[in-house]
Amino acid sequence: MFTCKSIDELRAQAEANGAALPLANDAQALAAPLTVAGRTLANRIAIQPMEGCDGTADGAPGELTIRRYDRFAASGAALVWFEACAVAREGRANPRQAWLTEENLDAYKALNDRIREIAVKNGNPAPIIIMQATHSGRYSKPDGVPAPIIAYNNPLFEKDAPLPADRIISDDELYRLEDKMAFSAALAEKAGFDGVDMKSCHRYLASELLSAYTRTGDFGGCYENRTRFLRESFGKAKAAVSKDFIVTSRLNVYDGFPFPYGFGVNEADGLTPDLTEGIRLVGDLKALGLELIDITIGNPYVNPHVNRPADWQPYEMPEDPTVGLARMMHCVGAIKAAHPEIKIIGSAFSYPRQFAANLAAGAVESGVCDMAGFGRMAFAYPDFAKDILSGNGLDAKKCCIACGKCSQLMRLGSTAGCVVRDSYYTKLYKELTSK
Ligand SMILES: Cc1cc2nc3c(=O)[nH]c(=O)nc-3n(C[C@H](O)[C@H](O)[C@H](O)COP(=O)(O)O)c2cc1C
Ligand code: SF4
Repeated sequence: MFTCKSIDELRAQAEANGAALPLANDAQALAAPLTVAGRTLANRIAIQPMEGCDGTADGAPGELTIRRYDRFAASGAALVWFEACAVAREGRANPRQAWLTEENLDAYKALNDRIREIAVKNGNPAPIIIMQATHSGRYSKPDGVPAPIIAYNNPLFEKDAPLPADRIISDDELYRLEDKMAFSAALAEKAGFDGVDMKSCHRYLASELLSAYTRTGDFGGCYENRTRFLRESFGKAKAAVSKDFIVTSRLNVYDGFPFPYGFGVNEADGLTPDLTEGIRLVGDLKALGLELIDITIGNPYVNPHVNRPADWQPYEMPEDPTVGLARMMHCVGAIKAAHPEIKIIGSAFSYPRQFAANLAAGAVESGVCDMAGFGRMAFAYPDFAKDILSGNGLDAKKCCIACGKCSQLMRLGSTAGCVVRDSYYTKLYKELTSK
C-alpha cells in the first residue's frame, strides 16, 4: 500500500527496494516549452492514449468519448495522444473501440476541432493531437468474444492450449496490413490530427511481431524481419501524408518475457532488459523521419506490474511498485541517451499519487525523457496538468490511487474511466460487479 507522505519517504521506499528514482523537489521542469517536429509545445505534459471502449458500433466517438476528450482538452496538457484506433474491423479490441474510417471521418474532425476550442477557451494553447493506429492482434475481440490474430504461437501465453495455425497472420496479410496502417495515417491527417502513431507496444500485433524469433518467413527470425512490419508501416505512412504531419510510434522497448518470447530481453539472462535492439530500431525509424517517440514497456494483460506499477495486481506482487517505476525510467532513459536529438515521451508516471509530478519533472530534468506522459492520472484527475503547472501541486485527494479498477472495467467488456474519482464510473462499476 502506498503510504508515503513526502518525497523523502518515496525516495527511501525506492532505495529500500534497490531502486533509484529521479525525484525533483518541484515540478518546474514540466512548465518549460518544447519544440517537436517544428511545433512549439507549451509544456512537457502529455496525456497518454487511454482507451475508453465507448465509441459507436461504426467506430466514431460516442458521448462518453467526447466527455473524456472534453476533460483532457481542458487539462492544460500540451499533447494529447489519442487512444488506440483500429485500422481494420477484425483488429478491434472490443466492439466499441475507436476505428477511423472514411465514413466517420467528419465525427473525428469535429472532435479534434472541439478539443482545440476547449483548450483555448480554458486559456491554454491548442494541444498537439496524435492518433494511435493499431491492430489488436492476439487481443482482438471485434464482436466482444476473443478472435485472436497472432504473430506466432507463444507457449507462455497459450500454455497447453495452442491457438490453431489459421490464427497466425500470413506474410501476405501483413503486407496488406502495412498498407492499411498507411491508409489510416492519411485518414488521420484528413481528420485534423497533428500526427499518427504506428502503435507497436503492449504486445498488440505490431509489438508481438518484434519478438517473433520463432516465426519463419519475411516477418520472423532475424532483427530485420521482426522489425519489418513497423519499419515498413512507418515508411508507407510517411509517404501517405504531407511533410509536416507527424509520423511516430508508441514503442515497447522491453516486454518482460524471456527469450525467445520477449523483445528487449537479455537472451541469456531471463528478464533483464537488453535495449540494444530497441536503440537500433529507434535509429532505423529516425532514418525514416522519426522526430518524436513515446516509449513504454510490458504487457497490460500478462505482466501489468511491468506496464503500469500498482499496489495490487491480479497475481502475487513480484516486486515493489518503485522497482517497476525504476525499470521504466531505465528503459526510457537508455533510448534518450542513445538518441538525444529525438524527442522522447516517457510512460507510467501515475503511480506515485501527489508525487507523480516530482517523478515526471525529475525524469525531464535528469534527461530520461523530454515529456512525461500520464495515463491513469488523466482519467482520475482531469485538472492534473493545470494544478502541476500553476505550482499548486497535485491534490492527493484527486489523484489516481493505482487500484486497477479502470482496467477491470475494460476486462468486463464495459466502457472505462476512473471508478474512484468519477461518479459515472463508480456507479457503473457497482452495477457490473454486484451482478
Ligand atoms: C483503461 C486503460 C486504457 C488504456 N488504453 C491504452 C491505449 O489505448 N493505448 C496505449 O498505448 N496504452 C493504453 N493504456 C496504457 C496507458 O497509456 C499507460 O501506458 C499506462 O496506464 C501506464 O501509465 P500511467 O502510470 O500514467 O497510468 C491504457 C491503460 C488503461 C489503464
Ligand atoms: S480506477 Fe483506479 S487505477 Fe483507474 S484511474 Fe481511477 S484510481 Fe486510477
